[in-house]
Amino acid sequence: MKFALGLSLVTAAGLVMGSGLPAAAAGDPAAGANVFQKCRVCHQIGPGAQNAVGPVLNGVVGRHSGIYPGYSYSDANKKSGIVWTVDVLQKYLKSPQSVVHGTKMMFPGLQKQSDIDNVIAYLQTFDAKGNPVKPGAAPAAAAPAAK
Ligand code: HEC
Repeated sequence: MKFALGLSLVTAAGLVMGSGLPAAAAGDPAAGANVFQKCRVCHQIGPGAQNAVGPVLNGVVGRHSGIYPGYSYSDANKKSGIVWTVDVLQKYLKSPQSVVHGTKMMFPGLQKQSDIDNVIAYLQTFDAKGNPVKPGAAPAAAAPAAK
């Protein structure tokens, strides 16, 4: 019974992923919210987020580095020319200093690949204004009509 239930969950997950966008590393945003506790010491996200030790991270996935208004970035970050795509974030969150030499983000990096995937999924749940984005939904896509 337990086995059958587990199997059907795996199948269901497979179907959901299969129907979505081309598979990016599929993190779990809810687990990512926990991982984000490590970031929260320095970063705010969500409605009303303010710059702190680090810049606001609303809408950071896909954003160019060093452009959040009112935040005083290091030259290293500003001149990096980086766009924070999922791929770049994967490397940066593992080892910030090796992607942006001389960054003032004093964070050693996340060790576990699942933590990295999950926290990126969490970052993607906020749009540039800090409003919630439905996980997996394209930004402009309307919610499916409930029939
Ligand atoms: C100890 C404080 C600290 C912690 C912890 C921290 N950061 Fe940062 N972060 C910073 C600072 C400071 C910057 C600005 C870097 C610069 O200007 O060189 C930054 C920059 C960034 C940027 C680039 C933003 C931009 O607009 O260019 C991203 C993305 C980021 N952090 C994500 C994270 C995530 C995700 C976590 C948690 C896994 C995290 N940070 C943890 C301090 C921190």
